[in-house]
Parts: sequence; structure tokens; C-alpha cells
Amino acid sequence: NKIVLAYSGGLDTSVILKWLKETYDAEIIAFTADIGQQDELDGLEEKALATGASKVYIDDLRDEFAKDFIYPMFQAGALYEGQYLLGTSIARPLIAKRMVEIARAEGANAIAHGATGKGNDQVRFELAAAALAPEIEVIAPWRSEQFRNEFPGRAEMIAYAEKHQIPVQASAAKPYSMDRNLLHISFESGMLEDPWFDATAPENKSMYVLSVDPEDAPDTAEYVELAFEQGNCTAINGEALTPLQVMEKLNALGGKHGIGRVDMVENRFVGMKSRGVYETPGGTILFTAHRKMESLTMDRDVMHLRDSLISRYSSTVYNGFWFAPERLAMQALVAESQKHVTGTVRLKLYKGNVMGAGVQSPLSLYNPDIATMEADPTQAYDQNDATGFIHLNALRLKVASGVHGSEVHGI
Ligand code: ARG
Ligand code: SIN
Repeated sequence: NKIVLAYSGGLDTSVILKWLKETYDAEIIAFTADIGQQDELDGLEEKALATGASKVYIDDLRDEFAKDFIYPMFQAGALYEGQYLLGTSIARPLIAKRMVEIARAEGANAIAHGATGKGNDQVRFELAAAALAPEIEVIAPWRSEQFRNEFPGRAEMIAYAEKHQIPVQASAAKPYSMDRNLLHISFESGMLEDPWFDATAPENKSMYVLSVDPEDAPDTAEYVELAFEQGNCTAINGEALTPLQVMEKLNALGGKHGIGRVDMVENRFVGMKSRGVYETPGGTILFTAHRKMESLTMDRDVMHLRDSLISRYSSTVYNGFWFAPERLAMQALVAESQKHVTGTVRLKLYKGNVMGAGVQSPLSLYNPDIATMEADPTQAYDQNDATGFIHLNALRLKVASGVHGSEVHGI
């Protein structure tokens, strides 16, 4: 009996580790994906072993996360409900994928996670596992009545940890839940459950991890240049970088200038609304730069077609359907749309803002000779053609006006 547990070292997954071992009389393999949580990984292996794991995997998946998950999602222009850059959503399928690989390599019969029964993460882990390894059982302790009876609150978990000499950090006492990776950090629950709670108030500054308060950001703006090849950022300020390096560099820059803080009430897949605060410094710069690169190089109708899929693509990722055929189908269209998205974007960063400060491309579709208000040397555009163009487009409006009158528009 072997179970692979997605382990973070926090109070919940520490207690779950021990509880699974006792309840299922199983060998527990603790698995932590390094997707950029940084200091959260310190001492994790020793902690997992001390808590009762028979084996520990801490796998550096940061390159894969940046290259095969974050980058394709940014090509799609994904943004959930107009605000959320999907930092947690995009990490879950990768964690599940590696968990399934470890389960197979270890001959484990089950995987387990510490996501609650009320959230999105359980759905994402389990839909990914279903798509990749339908034969593997999933254990979600938070959905077990026995577990919930044993641990109705944090106090019982802390008592259990003490009784079993499970090492838990004092930092586990933060009154809100955090999820950090290379793309973002999220904050939920605790005082944030009140949507009137002001997370920008000076007394709440200490919550933030990846960025300074925009009000405390430097008084001098900073320029940055992002080079793109086929929709992917490949260099910053002339220096060629891997996707991981791009994310690290942009996080540092964005964090310094207070960029990428979002406070929103979002719709969870399971039906409830939830309030979250996010810091996505690098992702916000990348998102803005990518859109500006597209503005110069992408055909209008290709852009509008891709844009029509943004809401659908974003929900697909948010809801946990990364390894689903509709995501692959949309990704294929997105990839085709990015073929000519090549060139350089110059941005100016200033106190929480990302401003466009120039864009250029060898594949630019922008033609100043055609667009100019001056005489057009190319003769490509004949203003007389616009007369017929407008007449034909106006035809049905005139017919409708004749039948219904203009009263429908209030005049
Ligand atoms: N609401 C965000 C999402 O669903 C963040 C979830 C944070 N998850 C966590 N385990 N703290 O993507
Ligand atoms: C959880 O409920 O485990 C975290 C929040 C979420 O998954 O939406």
C-alpha cells in the first residue's frame, strides 16, 4: 500500500501525511514540485521524513512550468474574468502530471492532495489525474467525513501535530492561505473573506511578498525591452533568456515597481464566489508586452478569432481542463496565430503601471504610408472606395429604420 502525497510542508499537508499513514496503513511518498516557491522549500525533505514519509521527491519543475505551461497560456492571452492571470490554475496540472509519473514509477496505487472540498484545486488535480492516469485512485482527506470530524479546526490540527511531534513552522500561523509559484502568489480566506476589507490599507502592507506597494515604488520610471519570437519572450534588454529566466527577471522588475497586484471576487468552478488577492508582477509585464507585440504583427481577423476564445480558454484552464481535448484544440489555433508575433516591445514601468513606450518588428503589418493623414505614396487605399463600403454596410440599417422608425433608439 503506497500513496504519493502532494506535500507542501505546511500544517495541513503535514497532518495529512501522518493521518494517511495511520488511516490507510500505507507507505507515504511525499512529493513537492519546485515551481518557484523559493524559501518555502527550505528544510522540506528533513521535515517530510521526520513526519513519517518513507521517501521524498522534491523535483525542480521550474523550467517545464515556464516553458510548457506559462508560455503557451500567455500566447493565448488568458485572463480569467478580466483580471486573474491564472497563477494557481496553471500550476495544478503540472503538479498532477509529475505526481502520476512518480506513482507509476513507485508502483503506488493512490495519490493524495490537501485541497479542500470547497475549492478549485481539488477539481484541477483530479481532472488532470483522470486524463493522464485513470487507473490511479485519488484520496482527498478534506472530503472524508472521518478526517473532518477529527479536524474540525486548526486547533485540532496543531494539537495533533504536537502529539505526533510533527514539526510545523510558526509561520503556519498566518491568518490567510497563500499559494506561491513562479507566476504569482495568491492570498485567500481569513480577513480577506470580507470583501469590504481593504487590502491596500497601509496596515496590511506586510501581507505582500512579491511586490512593493505602488505608493512605495521608485519615483523614477524604468524602461525595459522585451524581444519576442513567435509569441514567446526570448530576450530582455538584449540578453537572451530561457522562459524561466524571463519570469525571474520580470518578477524582480515588476516587484520593484509595484506591478501586478489584483484584488477580486471571482467565481469558483464549484459554484461559490471567493475573494482573492494576487501578486503577479512578471506575468503582468509579460501579458502587456505580448499584447503590444501582437498589435503590430497580427492580422486583424486572426486576432479577433483568437480573442473570441480568451474567455473560453481561460475558463478551461481555471476549471482544470488543461489535459482536455478542447484545450489542445484551442492551443493549436493559438500556436498558428503566433507565427508572426516577432519583434521588440519597449515598456516603461512606474508605480504599479506598465506603459507602452514603443514597438517594432521586421514583420510589422503596420504601414505608415497607408495609415498616414498625408498623401499616400503607395496608392493602396482609394478613399473613393470607402463610399461604396459604407453604402453597403448601411443598407440593412436604412431598411430597418424604414420599417421600425428611429423611436427604438429614443429619437
Ligand atoms: N482562487 C485561485 C484559483 O482558484 C487561487 C487558489 C489558491 N489555492 C490555494 N491552495 N491556496 O486559482
Ligand atoms: C482549497 O480550497 O484547497 C484552496 C482554494 C481553491 O482550491 O480554490
